[in-house]
Amino acid sequence: MIICRSIDAMRSQVRAWRREGLRIGFVPTMGFLHDGHLSLVDAAARRADRVVLSIFVNPTQFGPNEDFEAYPRDAARDEALCRARGVQALFYPERAAMYAADHSTWVVEEALTTGLCGRSRPGHFRGVTTVVTKLFNIVQPDVAVFGRKDAQQALVIERMVRDLDIPVEVVVAPICREADGLALSSRNVYLSPDERRRALCLSQGLRAAEARVAAGERRAAVLCADLAAAIQAAGGRVDYVECVSRRTLATLSTLDEPALLAVAAFFGRTRLIDNAYLG
Ligand code: PAJ
Repeated sequence: MIICRSIDAMRSQVRAWRREGLRIGFVPTMGFLHDGHLSLVDAAARRADRVVLSIFVNPTQFGPNEDFEAYPRDAARDEALCRARGVQALFYPERAAMYAADHSTWVVEEALTTGLCGRSRPGHFRGVTTVVTKLFNIVQPDVAVFGRKDAQQALVIERMVRDLDIPVEVVVAPICREADGLALSSRNVYLSPDERRRALCLSQGLRAAEARVAAGERRAAVLCADLAAAIQAAGGRVDYVECVSRRTLATLSTLDEPALLAVAAFFGRTRLIDNAYLG
């Protein structure tokens, strides 16, 4: 496995592979890797000859009161996991290489980012779309894989790629969960054992909503109210619970098109997100 710490090193590696006619798959991450990230590596490897994984805790997608400084980091462990999973190149840029002190150009998606996490985390998606554009320009992958764990992010990236004619195929992979249902997240390490137990209400509430829909429930407000009540009963603090169109992310009152039930909630100081496809 090659480790590229500079943009130039990454670019010349990719150029060499391209000269050999190899197809390049890409998995952007913020590190502290878990099986969810590694499932994206597998998905990329199925679609490409070489897999590049980037690790960059992107400062521009964190709000001033969020966890940028505290975000978990473990370079040695991440490197070993990438090696074991068959990643061919690890892109590990420094902050100063990614953002000049006078950086002043942004990529902004203006429709899909207005609700859900976009409402709770102003500026977050501007940071994501900007850094992902930069990473795409550096790595120039044929295919890039994102997780449905961040369903809104995946949709925003697909829209950005379409709108800006970025020559990359975007693949969205399923959510990886712990055996008990908790969606894997780098932020799960923040949870105390008690908070970890309480946080199970997210996946359990989403499964309950799926069951109600299978039994014929079509009213979005009922599904959302039940999930919010389950979170409160477990001692979580709801940020949002919303049932939205999977196409536009517009709020739905009735499940008359493919829907996304999306949730964000705090357990202690830790904000977790999860979601389910309904209908
Ligand atoms: P990060 O949170 O590290 O996630 C990297 C990728 O892993 C994202 O596509 C995310 O959706 C996916 N992922 C996380 N948990 C997952 C799980 N349990 N199952 C499946 N996939 C999962 O998302 C980011 O980083 C950043 O915003 C980034 C796109 C790298 C831009 O900075």
